[in-house]
Amino acid sequence: MDEPVGRKPTISDVANWAGVSTATVSRALAAPEKVRLRTREAVVKAVREIGYVPNLAARNLRTSRTRTILAVLPDFSNAFFSLVLRGISDKLVAQGYSLIIADTRNDPAREAQYAEFITAGRVDGVLLLNGRSLLAASDVRLSKTPTVSLCERIPGAAFPHVETENRRAARAVTSYLASLGHRRIGYVRGPPTNVLEHERFAGYKDALRDAGMRLDRGLVAEGDFSLASGEAAAETYLAARAIPHAIFACNDAMAMGLIRRLFAAGVIVPRDVSVAGFDDIEFAEAYNPAITTVRQARWEIGERAASVLLRLVDGEPLVEREIRLPAELVVRESTAMRAPQCPES
Ligand code: RIB
Repeated sequence: MDEPVGRKPTISDVANWAGVSTATVSRALAAPEKVRLRTREAVVKAVREIGYVPNLAARNLRTSRTRTILAVLPDFSNAFFSLVLRGISDKLVAQGYSLIIADTRNDPAREAQYAEFITAGRVDGVLLLNGRSLLAASDVRLSKTPTVSLCERIPGAAFPHVETENRRAARAVTSYLASLGHRRIGYVRGPPTNVLEHERFAGYKDALRDAGMRLDRGLVAEGDFSLASGEAAAETYLAARAIPHAIFACNDAMAMGLIRRLFAAGVIVPRDVSVAGFDDIEFAEAYNPAITTVRQARWEIGERAASVLLRLVDGEPLVEREIRLPAELVVRESTAMRAPQCPES
């Protein structure tokens, strides 16, 4: 049979080419395990030869399911996400779903590409881990697809949401630093538009207030959750000759960059300055010094979010739309009591 010229190949073209019915082609593509191997191979060969692209959206209208979920990440290289993804994946696999990961890298072009992916009906649901995604609440396409946000949150979005009690945990870790006798407690910020960063900064300020300390903007350094930004924060403190007694970097990657750069300048953690992070990524314990941090229940966050999403996909009512999981302060080697001989400033 000749290839169709000047038009898109249809399922009938595939059927004619393979010498089977269109129903068999449909079955071979949607449920290959139900079709004999020889028939399946003939269909796959025909699809390839004539360049047929199945209309997934149309097929989904009939079968109503792809049994596939899309997880949208801001930055796949952030070690924080490993256990969150495992929690998601464990839940999905147990329920017979596949997982596709979108590493958007906060790039609008990539986000737009995945928006098209969703529009084409290629997934049953979306897990949004990116708080500044173009795939926002106002996006009609996304609002038609069951969606749950987790970790990061899109301001103003009404999706069901799962996250850590960020403000409370940030308050606890800052209070711990104060309890060690540190009076000048610095803070390294996350990305300026990130809601998590705002909550952690609020928790830091809560703890300062609890301890009767005033916020000193000179002790607050910019950051963006990356290791490099932790190093840059150390540069800021070094250049200003204003090393705080203790520093709360609002994630572990920044705490690591901070410690490394301070060490290179002869400022030793925790002898000269205590440093605490947030997340408890795997490397936090293996670092030298092992990092005092806040352990987020990463696997549980992923698992709970996937459970909520599958309920939405199944059209079941939600018991909770907002789930906030507690975090745990993990004390390690990067924090210590303030030495009595330390000067006040
Ligand atoms: O954005 C998700 C996570 O990345 C946050 O919890 C933050 O700690 C950063 O590491």
